[in-house]
Amino acid sequence: MILNFGSVNIDNCYQVRDFVRAGETISALEVTRHAGGKGFNQSVALARAGAKVCHAGCIGEDGLFLRDMLRAEGVDTNFLRVTDSPTGNAIIQVNARGENCIILYTGANGCVTEDYADEVFSHFGPDDVLLVQNEISSLPYIFEKAREKGMRIAFNPSPMNSGVTREMLGAADWLFVNQVEASEITGAEGRENCLRALGELFPHTAVIMTLGGDGVVYRDKRQSLSHGIYPVSALDTTGAGDTFTGFFLAAVLSGGSVEYALETASKAAAISVTRPGAAESIPALREVLDF
Ligand code: RIB
Repeated sequence: MILNFGSVNIDNCYQVRDFVRAGETISALEVTRHAGGKGFNQSVALARAGAKVCHAGCIGEDGLFLRDMLRAEGVDTNFLRVTDSPTGNAIIQVNARGENCIILYTGANGCVTEDYADEVFSHFGPDDVLLVQNEISSLPYIFEKAREKGMRIAFNPSPMNSGVTREMLGAADWLFVNQVEASEITGAEGRENCLRALGELFPHTAVIMTLGGDGVVYRDKRQSLSHGIYPVSALDTTGAGDTFTGFFLAAVLSGGSVEYALETASKAAAISVTRPGAAESIPALREVLDF
């Protein structure tokens, strides 16, 4: 079982021609409300890719519909906690090129406490895998608990900030980063240098570094691989990275080769950018196999 200890957000998406600049007021072409949060999106991607996933994290009463959505995907929500805080939310601008910029409000995602983590981890052990992003509280403790339980760890340290420590990065069996994040972690510039530096800093970690329009590179102790993108016309790139992470992890944990995982994850991400929203844009496995 994959335990995804992660965020749940309500995404308020504003379709704009260009992102608003300092001092400027612009009108949105459209506003829509979607399910999101890196944690939520990755749980949906894992489930749609065929993996067994349990989502732990916190929502408010206003986010009960998100719990229902996870359940409808077959995600185990037994440990999802409903708190007095409002559900986390995001203000997302999507421009004419499908690019986004995001303001996050942590809300209930900040209510993950050590006591709650203790309760959740008491149900998991060495056969399980922990997946985490950087949008909830008590992350260092969650890493400690996973190691104590002998669980393997997949880490997507997004959005990157000073709370992401070397210890956390080094504890990861799989590390999902983009090139900007890789550069922040290592201080290196350029794809090859970043990848080499990550390999030197974290020799036991399989690194998956996404490169936007240039695809993805992978490196572990034994091999280095790369995969290109599938050209599509991008409508909304929100959640594409989460789609990639979920499909990649589902593929390797089901015994697929890394080549296969890179291929299906890249296809899934390509389909997702042709659709609006984050979680809603994630394709089913059948669509990915037919792509
Ligand atoms: O990765 C995309 C997600 O980032 C959005 O759904 C938003 O909620 C933010 O967490």
